[in-house]
Amino acid sequence: MAVENVSHTLLNWYDRHARQLPWRTPPGSNLRPDPYAVWMSEIMLQQTTVAAVIPYFEKFMARWPTVAALAAADDTDVMTAWAGLGYYSRARNLLACARTVVERHDGHFPPDESVLLALPGIGPYTAGAIAAIAFGLPATVVDGNVERVVSRLYAVNIPLPAARAELRRLTAGITPAVRPGDFAQAMMDLGATVCAPRAPRCLGCPLSVHCRAHAAGTADAFPVKPAK
Ligand code: ADE
Repeated sequence: MAVENVSHTLLNWYDRHARQLPWRTPPGSNLRPDPYAVWMSEIMLQQTTVAAVIPYFEKFMARWPTVAALAAADDTDVMTAWAGLGYYSRARNLLACARTVVERHDGHFPPDESVLLALPGIGPYTAGAIAAIAFGLPATVVDGNVERVVSRLYAVNIPLPAARAELRRLTAGITPAVRPGDFAQAMMDLGATVCAPRAPRCLGCPLSVHCRAHAAGTADAFPVKPAK
């Protein structure tokens, strides 16, 4: 599949349909968002919906506008502000990460995927997302939405979780060198709004002409579920 066709088509779609979210800069603006804001949003979004995250993101950014401010916060204030978002290990790691960035990196998130990966609470997905979105690095960013889009695009006939390595390889193959952060967020938006888990809206999908599952009329059969 031609990398340029898929990524160009998707980026054009994103320029017209991107969700306007408080941690994003306008698509195609060439403005890079604040790495601290990108990190904050990605940690909050790990197990929580966009709609639930927005008010917490705005509250945290208003109260602790920089990584240094957050690093200096009282633990109990941060835990109290996090209340309601759930998965509290994320809040503990949030503080540990902010303090490590201040101590180890002089208060600046490092523009390097493998160095990001060494920080508390940052796994492969989050390291890739920060590298691509905040620093414009051509990282491969795969979350559940992206897995679904790519498994349909290529009709990947391997059940999850065994399919993960192949889905990562295929995602890397269509990730462009230009605008990798917009590309990653476009894939997430497509998965969230068009290439939905059930009843995907293939008629409104910019990638339907490239999509093997759509061609076979079987988009909703992917990703293949593990055998029970
Ligand atoms: N889910 C995780 N990260 C996201 C992002 N940057 N935009 C939208 N949804 C997301």
